[in-house]
Amino acid sequence: MKSTDPALKSLPARDAKAVVHGLTDLSEHARRGASVIESGHGVWVRDIEGREYIEAMSGLWCIALGYGNDRLADVAHRQMKQLAYYPLTNHKSHPPVIALAEKLLSIAPAPMSRIWFASTGSEANDCAARLSWYYWNARGLPDKRQFIAHQLAYHGNTIAAASLSGVKYAHERFNLPLPGFHHVTTPHYSRHALPGESEEAFSDRLIADIERLIEVQGAQTIAAFFVEPVMGAGGIVVPPARYYERLQALLKQHDILLVCDEVVTAFGRTGEMFGSTTMQLQPDLLVCAKALSSAYIPISALMIGPRVYEAIERQSGELGMFGLTMTYSGHPVACAVALETLKIYEEERIVDHVRAVSPAFLSGLHALSSHPMVKEVRGIGLLAGVELQTGRGRECARLAEEEGLIVRAIGDTIAFCPPLIISDAEVQALLQRFARALDRL
Ligand SMILES: Cc1ncc(COP(=O)(O)O)c(C=O)c1O
Repeated sequence: MKSTDPALKSLPARDAKAVVHGLTDLSEHARRGASVIESGHGVWVRDIEGREYIEAMSGLWCIALGYGNDRLADVAHRQMKQLAYYPLTNHKSHPPVIALAEKLLSIAPAPMSRIWFASTGSEANDCAARLSWYYWNARGLPDKRQFIAHQLAYHGNTIAAASLSGVKYAHERFNLPLPGFHHVTTPHYSRHALPGESEEAFSDRLIADIERLIEVQGAQTIAAFFVEPVMGAGGIVVPPARYYERLQALLKQHDILLVCDEVVTAFGRTGEMFGSTTMQLQPDLLVCAKALSSAYIPISALMIGPRVYEAIERQSGELGMFGLTMTYSGHPVACAVALETLKIYEEERIVDHVRAVSPAFLSGLHALSSHPMVKEVRGIGLLAGVELQTGRGRECARLAEEEGLIVRAIGDTIAFCPPLIISDAEVQALLQRFARALDRL
């Protein structure tokens, strides 16, 4: 049904005069105004014109349980009435943060000692960088201050997280990255392999390059290596298995912390509860956010492994205080929503559901490999990228939108990250809509 309400009709232009949008050409936005979404249910959203779309990106890789989940709304309402806010500073606590921390410790993919909470993935990654420094100071190795991450990695947009990110748009004209943040080749086999190079040889070559970087900089200056188990915003890159195996051995050899940024991959996305399990990673620190609350409220968590936690606890005792604090760290409403989200994942056996629907999702996309517009299809679980032959990603995303499908163009790659609750029938609708957009392209 088309909207005739003049108040709704004026929203795109009002937006253009009042709101700043990320990952948007702001001059183009001033001319064309916003596409305004007003409601959602399950995997579907509706705009103010009454058009319905499959939200095949879960918004920004986050609304894992889909829209309109009453349980999450109700738990937030109850917690707001009971205890809307309380800080964690100066020994204070509250029931939801304790329960959520215990729950996360019990499901962590590697042994973890404590949980630090923040509100966004970027903040949690900044905290992971800060805790790495704090840890090496506690160990009496203050020169271990530099970080390594991948080219095209996305770790967020606060200053350390943006410096860790290996994408030009987060750096250019923002005076970033900060010094001491290094970026190594993206472990994207089909893009970066030499002619005739096997996956094993490719992995070995990349690891040798990292080893050279560590030697040139000095292992005594490197604090941590940040990885996304499967790279999301970098265009959906699943590294070859051997790559992470060799990387972890190298980091161990040089006593460098491994930080897994699971902001996109945690809670079922790759067909395991954590991407670290899928990719056999054993992180010292693990960051999650987004699906932690199914995006119903901002919350992120930094899981801290035993050797790091013991050192920082000891050092804070020496200093008389742990000097990291954030007003909304462990916000009770956010914790209550996250706890309920995790409960729903368990009750609905979300990991089993992802394993059940993802073969049709992935094989349906792989079937498009023979389409003349498609160069490569990549993916795992309910995370996939279709790389196009030409630089027409944005045009393809626009056509998909005309077909009632919201996807994201990352350069030439069309990214898919649908809500985890997507049904078989909705997967088929997604595939049909995308195939129509490709044909029109
Ligand atoms: C892997 C990864 N890390 C960190 C972030 C940053 O999270 P936030 O936008 O909540 O700060 C994102 C956001 O997309 C992400 O994909």
